[in-house]
Amino acid sequence: VTGAITLDPGYKNSGACKSAITFLDGEEGILRYRGYAIEDLAEKASFLEVSYLLIFGELPTSQELERFETNIRKYTLVNEEMKNIIDGFPKTAHPMGVLSALTSALTAFNPKSVNVENEKELYEGICKTMGKFLVIATWTYRKAMGYPLNYYDNTIGYVDNFMKLMFSLPTGPYSTNPKVVAALDKLFILHADHEQNCSTSTVRMVGSSHAGLFASISAGVSALWGPLHGGANQAVLEMLEEIHKAGGDVEKFILKAKDKEDPFRLMGFGHRVYKNFDPRAKIIKVAADEVLSSLGVEDPLLDIAMKLEKAALEDEYFKARSLYPNVDFYSGIIYRALGIPTDMFTVLFAIGRLPGWIAQWVEMRANKEPIGRPRQVYVGSPLRDFVPADKR
Ligand code: SDX
Repeated sequence: VTGAITLDPGYKNSGACKSAITFLDGEEGILRYRGYAIEDLAEKASFLEVSYLLIFGELPTSQELERFETNIRKYTLVNEEMKNIIDGFPKTAHPMGVLSALTSALTAFNPKSVNVENEKELYEGICKTMGKFLVIATWTYRKAMGYPLNYYDNTIGYVDNFMKLMFSLPTGPYSTNPKVVAALDKLFILHADHEQNCSTSTVRMVGSSHAGLFASISAGVSALWGPLHGGANQAVLEMLEEIHKAGGDVEKFILKAKDKEDPFRLMGFGHRVYKNFDPRAKIIKVAADEVLSSLGVEDPLLDIAMKLEKAALEDEYFKARSLYPNVDFYSGIIYRALGIPTDMFTVLFAIGRLPGWIAQWVEMRANKEPIGRPRQVYVGSPLRDFVPADKR
């Protein structure tokens, strides 16, 4: 399925991994999936094409793409007993916590682990994961709204299904704006993989113990939830709303972000790898403008975001630390314009990142990588003798 890479023995304790999936150049702001530039893929490919590319290593022919979508459709039914699990959550539960739990619970209903040694079983496991994850991700919203849970519609596309699963109600017919679906398709592509980020490293680490794919992805969902990682897209919107309430005073927030006494950070800014513009942020910024104008949406938060970006990019503190907008800075503006509620933004990040997690997990297992076991630098106490309690 993926070109197995021979690993030199010394790599075992290095903590780094070898991967043929995504290439990043943080200095030049380059991102490529299996050698294809993110700019090309975002403009010319569909999310399912990119998912196939990441997982199987090649862009699919039309027949391969049709077979992929047909097989995903075979597995979009989620066991009805899963509804007992989602019923156990309060409506106020954060969707990412519910999604992580439901993803792990899928193992109970699909106990046969994804077998990377058997091509047919592996393909089936991949399609099952793509199908069921999308459905349960939307169930987290339906649960929070108190709406009935929807089923995948095999007559429409994968991203169309996301909108229908999320928003269609039994009280009337449902149709989606093709511009909304196209914008979401592009956003999912931009989130699909990003080499060894926190959540992907988590998926690889958990999978390296030969835990199943659902269990590994459930752990990835939890890692992505953090506001320093995927949770930043929700935190950006909350920050922009706070700035808006403060009368749009972006300078005040730039000062706060520079104040070492204040834990506040400018959400959506900075990146461990990109010390130049995040190429995804550039694409999303243009898309935000296009989507809002094509939908006729006036959002003061977009103006604030642009004002904040300009002020930060001109600020010496931010320039000295190469802090630029990242993928999360503008994505929330588009999600909001598409009617997605703020606490679902990181769930959308997870839907986009799913094929990347799958691809990385399969690569790690196909390459028979040893169990992840990072070492440490010990800085604790030297050897000392035990002291009985009455002498302490
Ligand atoms: C994602 O890894 C990936 O690829 C992740 C991701 C993916 O696709 O999977 O790209 C998705 O997670 C994007 C990042 C989303 N998170 C945020 O937007 C949260 C805000 N950003 C930061 O918390 C921070 O920039 C990180 C977490 C993204 C990166 O942190 P680093 O690399 O550990 O940088 P650092 O904390 O060491 O900061 C270096 C300096 C520090 O100042 P000094 O101590 O040198 O004086 O820069 C400052 C930091 O205080 N700094 C910020 C800042 N980010 C870093 N100061 C203010 N605002 C910020 N956002």
